Amino acid sequence: MNESHNTEKIDALRDLILADVAEAHDVKTLEEVRIAALGKKGRVSELMKRLGGMSADERKVMGPKLNGLKDIVTNAITERTQDLHNAALDARLKTEKVDVTLPVRPQGQGKIHPVSQVTDEVITIFGDMGFSVREGPDIEDDFHNFTALNFPKHHPARDVHDTFFFGADAQGERKLLRTHTSPVQIRTMMTEAPPLRVIMPGRTYRCDSDQTHTPMFHQVEGLIIDQETHMGHLKWCLEEFAKAFFEVDTIRARFRPHFFPFTEPSAEMDIGYTRVRNEIRVGEGDDWLEILGCGMVHPNVLKNVGLNPNEYQGFAFGMGIDRLAMLKYGIPDLRDFFAADMRWLTHYGFAPLNIPNLATGLSR
Ligand code: DAH
Repeated sequence: MNESHNTEKIDALRDLILADVAEAHDVKTLEEVRIAALGKKGRVSELMKRLGGMSADERKVMGPKLNGLKDIVTNAITERTQDLHNAALDARLKTEKVDVTLPVRPQGQGKIHPVSQVTDEVITIFGDMGFSVREGPDIEDDFHNFTALNFPKHHPARDVHDTFFFGADAQGERKLLRTHTSPVQIRTMMTEAPPLRVIMPGRTYRCDSDQTHTPMFHQVEGLIIDQETHMGHLKWCLEEFAKAFFEVDTIRARFRPHFFPFTEPSAEMDIGYTRVRNEIRVGEGDDWLEILGCGMVHPNVLKNVGLNPNEYQGFAFGMGIDRLAMLKYGIPDLRDFFAADMRWLTHYGFAPLNIPNLATGLSR
């Protein structure tokens, strides 16, 4: 065999393979080049196999030559692999880059969800009247959600709530997702001494879904406990709230007798409105819109939390935050609130830096 002829062929093969390596612009192509050169049946591997059949002299020359070829090709491929990985990472970093040093843009991309906005508005209004905020757990037990609130055991009122129950635990107790924010009243009265003046916003759950109901929704609960608060205070407080919330100077309101197990007497509050084309105008007109439930805290509830009903009294109320948002901001379908659709949020959302306050306006 002509050695010099063979070494020339090996140099030519090396140049060919190195050119292929340089031209491989993605990991997959590069892998194909590697297999064609160094794989079991690759061109370099096939040549290596021939070493065994060579004479000792031939092998002395061809051995180092072929091993050199193998090293050169291996190194070139390793290097190229690294380059391709770096390039891919650079490209990703370029497209996914977030510049945290950018100033806040007034036209902002982020929006405040109407539920958060209305929650803040309600807290602002009641905060101004001296209420402070309390929260409770979403997963409740029967005692806090029903029994302590004077729902009789096995009373159908428990079914009205379409409760989501968990499976029984080791003690046979079935926890539930709270069906209203009223259990936070119980938790507050059991841990804090009167006088109390608190509002309790939060998530609530009922097995229900249509245009105005979703399985998860939001309520805010209010509670005053002291020694002299009466129904007149309740009426004034809620009328002031409605005026402030709907941002109107006057409001027509009526309190319709109703039944809730945890209040006596109980009422639903309606406000007067009129419909101008598709828009609801609150404060004028002859139509009535129910906005909340309320009443004087039932003596049994006071007893259940260890308060003496002959000494203490107070009022409570509860309303749907999502419903208030739909009314105030003319949002037709509740289910859209929780669809996480950016187009919806861009349309109905609020500027993040306009924090609701009573001095410059709640929603401006
Ligand atoms: N918990 C009631 C519901 O979910 C709302 C409610 C009504 C709360 C009257 C109250 C109240 O505190 O006094 O339907």
